[in-house]
Amino acid sequence: MSGNVTISKKFDFSASHRCWKEDWTTEKNQKWFGVNDSPYGHGHNYELHVTVIGSIDPQSGMIINLSELKEKVNEILDQFDHKFLNHDTPYFNDLVPTTENVARILFQLIDKKLSGYKTLRLKKVRLYERHDLYADVWRDTE
Ligand code: NI
Repeated sequence: MSGNVTISKKFDFSASHRCWKEDWTTEKNQKWFGVNDSPYGHGHNYELHVTVIGSIDPQSGMIINLSELKEKVNEILDQFDHKFLNHDTPYFNDLVPTTENVARILFQLIDKKLSGYKTLRLKKVRLYERHDLYADVWRDTE
């Protein structure tokens, strides 16, 4: 697919998580994930940037109908918003919900959601867990 224009939209959601591996010692968990990770987790106000690449529709002047993009991404974020990611979603039973892993899962879910479009693809998601920490997941090839 040839596409040389991107459009990006920002979404917000709040969720809690616990980064902890049962098969690691407490010491190792604390060394990697921090000393205060309560079994009940802690919350973040996540910020998700979704970037779509494609060709501009000559009629609308747009790559994608932004209302449609919003609706589709929000359908996915409904599974995450105000949830405890480890237990309330099916994705992190055996996967530590780090910024990287949450971003990767969101990329996969949004990519699948947009797979019906012929003129555009999901290019990148950027997920901020905090203002000073974010992960990028992107498509290498077209
Ligand atoms: Ni955290």
